[in-house]
Amino acid sequence: MKLVINQQTVEVNAPADRTALQYLRASGLTGTKEGCASGDCGACTVMVGELKAGKVQFKTINSCIVPIGQLAGTHVVTVEGLADQSGLHPVQDEMVVCHGSQCGFCTPGFVMSLAAMLENGDPAKTETVQQGISGNLCRCTGYRPIVQAGMNALGRDYESRLQDPGLLNDIKPASSGSVQQPLNESALRAVMVQYPRAPLIAGGTDLMLEVTQRYQGIERLIDVSRVKELRLITETQDTYGIGASVTYTELEAFFAPRSPALVSLLHRFGSRQIRNSGTIGGNLANGSPIADMPPILICWDATLELCSSSGQTREVDISEFYTGYRQTVLKADEYIAGIRIPKRSLNSFTRCYKSSKRIEDDISSVMGAFLFEGDSSNLLEGGGSKITAARIAFGGMAATPVRLTGIEDRLVGKTVSEELLTDVSEALGEAMSPLTDVRASAEYRTAMARSMVVRALNEFSGISKPLVMELELHA
Ligand SMILES: Cc1cc2nc3c(=O)[nH]c(=O)nc-3n(C[C@H](O)[C@H](O)[C@H](O)COP(=O)(O)OP(=O)(O)OC[C@H]3O[C@@H](n4cnc5c(N)ncnc54)[C@H](O)[C@@H]3O)c2cc1C
Ligand code: FES
Ligand code: FES
Repeated sequence: MKLVINQQTVEVNAPADRTALQYLRASGLTGTKEGCASGDCGACTVMVGELKAGKVQFKTINSCIVPIGQLAGTHVVTVEGLADQSGLHPVQDEMVVCHGSQCGFCTPGFVMSLAAMLENGDPAKTETVQQGISGNLCRCTGYRPIVQAGMNALGRDYESRLQDPGLLNDIKPASSGSVQQPLNESALRAVMVQYPRAPLIAGGTDLMLEVTQRYQGIERLIDVSRVKELRLITETQDTYGIGASVTYTELEAFFAPRSPALVSLLHRFGSRQIRNSGTIGGNLANGSPIADMPPILICWDATLELCSSSGQTREVDISEFYTGYRQTVLKADEYIAGIRIPKRSLNSFTRCYKSSKRIEDDISSVMGAFLFEGDSSNLLEGGGSKITAARIAFGGMAATPVRLTGIEDRLVGKTVSEELLTDVSEALGEAMSPLTDVRASAEYRTAMARSMVVRALNEFSGISKPLVMELELHA
């Protein structure tokens, strides 16, 4: 397969599980660093340019968890590809001016995250820069000078020499080596029949940790990230259809005007690099009890569209998708094609709360999603009304994501009051028996879940002085 690296076309023949970082460093491009090899530190960040509607668009990825074979037909830019004869790239220049580097180990990763923002024409806003470097850790310099360097660079006039579509025009857009990249569903099914034991890969942000953390070899991969039908977001009169290979960055853009609750959750999901690669289908198929998407999708009554390699399709309610710890109803010859979300769900009062040790780039200890409907006219903002419908779902509280129908039943027909909050808080403690693990103790998880329910109900009812003090003591 072919790709472009720093404006040079390169032919690569690598095993399926060779990461882009391993390939780059073995090729002498050692400016890209390895810190964690698990997507957590950003030292390995590179830019990947893809042709979209005749233009090259860049995004950042963690090269430590992306197989090099997935990058066929793209333009990979590493820190070595930024400076030219005229001098340093604006971002590098500003990092020097602002003293944005000390030991320098993290610096190439930060430079690439900031450079991608400049390529995308992002505005010089503190929040934008902070989001852009949310997947980059620095242990010695501190973030203030790095954010300043980003702000200064984004404020500069900049003419890109990297966005040349001509560089990508003459290379094949997809790989058919050890990483098979079908471009449509019928090609996907054919390749699944040909290689029934080969795992599917989308963003690789879960799967590739098997390689880099558990040292599992993978001989062949079927890449679903380019299957055209799985990349679509569609709309009918009643539903939104989200293709399984839609990334979080794409979801953020689509839901920005439609669901502030989901967008606020996505801002807490991994990092910019993870959101650029990770997909909704991968999150569901992985079967993790602490995945962030299932609770909100449960509240929204979402349906999964599953398809077999022989072309048979079936629909499964998301509440019935999970059968046990990391177990789902997905059969070995099936893939998730998409997720259907009823539009009416998005009109209901929805909240998502994520509890994790860090704000950015961290997995949930507890993830709670809540949907309430009431008889008030001001439903999206709450309004002190009687609850006419309720959905409550949690991640991190059991072996699977769970919906709490018993608690929902206690709420319907009631108006939020101190007695109701005490009642559901107590009932929730009895309904759940979470695990103690490295992320949180069972007691902490229960206390968090209780305070999330109380917060959601307070927000729904629009109570200006939240009814929470007594319940905190209670938890
Ligand atoms: C640093 C870091 C931070 C993270 N932060 C979060 C977080 O905040 N919240 C969270 O929930 N998760 C988080 N994750 C986990 C991960 O990013 C998500 O679960 C992501 O959605 C996985 O999607 P993917 O496309 O990368 O899946 P992949 O890794 O490509 O695949 C995951 C699994 O799903 C299967 N699969 C993929 N697509 C399909 C399909 N269409 N049909 C059937 N099977 C399929 C694969 O075979 C594999 O078994 C994080 C991961 C990392 C490394
Ligand atoms: S090496 Fe840490 S994110 Fe890749
Ligand atoms: S400069 Fe040392 S880790 Fe950032």
